[in-house]
Parts: sequence; C-alpha cells; structure tokens
Amino acid sequence: NGEAVKACTMFAIQVNGAEITTIEGLATNGELHPMQKAFWENHGLQCGYCTPGMIMASVDMLKNNPNPTEEEIRHGLEGNFCRCTGYHNIVKSVKAAAESMQGGA
Ligand code: FES
Repeated sequence: NGEAVKACTMFAIQVNGAEITTIEGLATNGELHPMQKAFWENHGLQCGYCTPGMIMASVDMLKNNPNPTEEEIRHGLEGNFCRCTGYHNIVKSVKAAAESMQGGA
C-alpha cells in the first residue's frame, strides 16, 4: 500500500488484501526503475543479497525526501545491512537516482 516494510518480519496474513510491490514490480515495460539503473551504473551492489531491500527502501525514502543529503541517505538506510559494499556506492547510487528522478544528470 505504498509503504516500505521489512518483508522478513511480516507474516503473509498481515498484508492480506494489501497492494504489494516487490523489486520485480519496479520496472515498467522492461525498463528498469531509475533507482535500479543507478545501482547498476554506480556499482551499488556486489553479491546482491541486500540490493532489493536497499532499492525498495531508497525508493520509499525519495518519495518523502526527493533530494536527500549523504547523511540523510545513510540514516534512511540504517535498517538495511550490506556485508559487501561498505555503503559508499549505495549512497552514490541513491544520490544519482535522486538527480535522475528530478530530471538532472
Ligand atoms: Fe552483498 Fe550488499 S551487496 S550484502
């Protein structure tokens, strides 16, 4: 229903009747969402285990704050853990997506 949640802590019955969007649902007509493209182009992932959660949380973050600072991005993603990247390229990806979604570079 337009709210990011941690799927790993939800029972299916809790979302009975809700509209659910997963990482697969972000792309439209075979075109990656700008956040997916930004993660790809900025090497925001390594093993990819954390990536769906990072991307979904980042898309939700930009709905409320379309131009977050690096600090706001790091704070917004603090509930998502990545064991590979050190977060630098994840933050860079979110920043790039924010610029792209605002019609920037
Ligand atoms: Fe491997 Fe994040 S890319 S856990």
